[in-house]
Amino acid sequence: MKSKEKTPANPPADGVLLASVPQHVAIIMDGNGRWAQARGLPRLAGHRAGTENLRRVIEACAEFGVRYLTIYAFSTENWGRPEDEVSGLMNLFDDVFDRELAELHRQGARLIHIGRLDGVRPKMVAKIRKGEEHTRDNKRLTLCVAFNYGGRDEIVCAIQKMLTEGVQPEDVTDELVSQYLFTAGIPDPDLVIRTSGEMRTSNFLIWQSAYAEWVFPEVFWPDFGREELLKALKEYARRERRFGLVPTTG
Ligand code: IPE
Ligand code: IPE
Ligand code: MG
Repeated sequence: MKSKEKTPANPPADGVLLASVPQHVAIIMDGNGRWAQARGLPRLAGHRAGTENLRRVIEACAEFGVRYLTIYAFSTENWGRPEDEVSGLMNLFDDVFDRELAELHRQGARLIHIGRLDGVRPKMVAKIRKGEEHTRDNKRLTLCVAFNYGGRDEIVCAIQKMLTEGVQPEDVTDELVSQYLFTAGIPDPDLVIRTSGEMRTSNFLIWQSAYAEWVFPEVFWPDFGREELLKALKEYARRERRFGLVPTTG
């Protein structure tokens, strides 16, 4: 069940004490293309800059006491982009994987993939599986990478699986559906951040974010660093989550 309680204050990190820290932060890493365009660079240069940003955001999340971080890396709709951008992105993911896995492990992060793996290069699938296996006992932070992920696709998969397994209509509950999603076992996000000023879900965690708090920083993803994250966490700490109930008094 969703708890109305907020996570208690975290120990001060670098002099920062937050009143409450989201257990799960999810990020729509948007604006790479515009970041590049603003500099007269090809879109792929923006994607590259975006991946370079990841390491510090992961580290900052762990530092502030966030336990789960989900990042939207590639949507089921992104396959419709020009072929050279899609293949450039796939090559980039390949490189990032090779380069960052050891660092992720060193940071004490557990890697989990969410999304569909059919249609993904077999070499890439093997790497993802190996990465998950390699980091599975890490406890400091769980990093969920939404790659070839779509919220509707996830719900379609869940329904198909339930029907295949003969789940009876009267047994279908909110909790059961959650267990059939790619995110089974992962708590719902408390805070969703979408960079670049765009304000829409774009098919990201549409079931899980039902009661998440949302923030929309104006900066493009490659410019979203520790300070920007801290601003978003402070904004979260000021929010009152109600879950459909009445405001708490006093
Ligand atoms: C997000 O940046 C990264 C992916 C979707 C892979 P965009 O590529 O969407 O950047 P903009 O929105 O065009 O600036
Ligand atoms: C969402 O961003 C997908 C990722 C960040 C991976 P998009 O840039 O694809 O979303 P739209 O097209 O602007 O809605
Ligand atoms: Mg975009």
